[in-house]
Amino acid sequence: MSDGADGPGGLTAGKQRGAETRLAAALTVADVLGKGRALDVALVQHGTRLTDPRDRALVQEIAYGVLRFLPRLRGYAAGLMVHGLKPRDLDVECLLWVGLYQLDALRVPAHAAVSQTVATARWLGKPWAASFLNAVLRNFQRRRQQRLEGLPGEPATHHCFPEWLAKRLQYAWPEDAECLMQESDRHPPMTLRVNLARLTRRAYAEQLAAVGLTARPLAQAPAALVLDRPVDVTALPGFATGLVSVQDGAAQLAAALLGARPGAQVLDACAAPGGKTAHILESWPGAEVTAVDLSRERLQPLREGLARLGLSARVLAADLAAGRPGDPATADPWADRPYDRMLLDLPCSATGVIRRHPDIKWLRRPTDIAPLAATQGRILDRVWPHLRPGGMLVYVTCSLLPEENHEQMLAFLQRTPDAREQPLEVAWGRACPVGRQVLTGEDGMDGFYFARLTRTAGAASP
Ligand SMILES: C[S@@+](CC[C@H](N)C(=O)[O-])C[C@H]1O[C@@H](n2cnc3c(N)ncnc32)[C@H](O)[C@@H]1O
Repeated sequence: MSDGADGPGGLTAGKQRGAETRLAAALTVADVLGKGRALDVALVQHGTRLTDPRDRALVQEIAYGVLRFLPRLRGYAAGLMVHGLKPRDLDVECLLWVGLYQLDALRVPAHAAVSQTVATARWLGKPWAASFLNAVLRNFQRRRQQRLEGLPGEPATHHCFPEWLAKRLQYAWPEDAECLMQESDRHPPMTLRVNLARLTRRAYAEQLAAVGLTARPLAQAPAALVLDRPVDVTALPGFATGLVSVQDGAAQLAAALLGARPGAQVLDACAAPGGKTAHILESWPGAEVTAVDLSRERLQPLREGLARLGLSARVLAADLAAGRPGDPATADPWADRPYDRMLLDLPCSATGVIRRHPDIKWLRRPTDIAPLAATQGRILDRVWPHLRPGGMLVYVTCSLLPEENHEQMLAFLQRTPDAREQPLEVAWGRACPVGRQVLTGEDGMDGFYFARLTRTAGAASP
């Protein structure tokens, strides 16, 4: 990036571009922490003003990094400042973290990281912040160079999780919690799902190699290839024509558990944005899938994904948690037939996919977990009577918390006389009192929970 002529605000063109990038990153983080916005939504809003894709990529890298390592950055800042900033200066505080993150973790030259972060303060309309940021960032840089001193405020713990969630994970997974939190703070791999209805995994790996991309097969999921480095989907051979999709390895474990014969009626409850719907149809040709989701907006990418892959399903918007507990939902369009198979991939705390969505660490509250578990229980109770006797339900979450996983299953089995666990005889994950858990990072996969239930034959249907 070369500096050119003076631009608005007295900044050279190069500095202006650098300042715009830092500003977009700081405002993205401020929207997540101050307004409770989802990171991907905030990124789109603040990133679209930048025309160069490299600048948008840098905004993304910085915003993800700041949210991943927030406690560490807060620790540094606290060790360098005499007074904390006022809540109304959250934007300046975010800019400080943006500067610290660049100095701590990125290969941006230190002088550029400092001067462009400082220049950004003027764009915020807070000129006082320029000298403040300059002093703090230069102090950090100096202390960092004299590493012997240790970094100011460097936290003792290795993970960067909120305390409440760290405690819950330590309670649930005493031996694995530290490791899984560290895994959750790493960059996730980009994993592909080869469309095995069209070609073999090996054949697709050869197509990747032909364009200079390398990937390794994942033993646990027969269609999965893990790329050595992430790329834009447009660089994937045959993406537009449906040879391949992007889906984490653990998410690819669900479809195989269903075992749906041709003609089987399958309910994919909570289906959007449709990764698993498409995988069911690729894996079980001839299955008749009804894909339901509460969100009409999220059903749009599901429809587009199926069209890209040349697949079709009945797609319906409905609230599966509505109605009185135990009442059959006979008036709902999705409930017009008994189902042989059901996939319930329910809304959850998403604690297993924090490496892909670091904002979850700061958006989730401890008080969210019980209501989420209650919704999961309501959806289970609502759909269960529509499972054909002898039929099978696969329960999935991307949560690491027992309340949403095996405890949910135990409670359901206790209150549902015609439900039985069907144990999973698989070579992945770890056994829970009911079902199995993949912990984040295990075999390179996201954190997911799976259980399988059958409805005893002879049970009455609505
Ligand atoms: C974990 S995501 C599903 C991911 C999807 N199965 C896939 O593989 O792409 C959970 C989904 O549940 C939907 N959802 C949340 N509450 C719901 C409800 N009450 N009824 C139906 N769907 C609901 C959300 O809109 C969200 O799309």
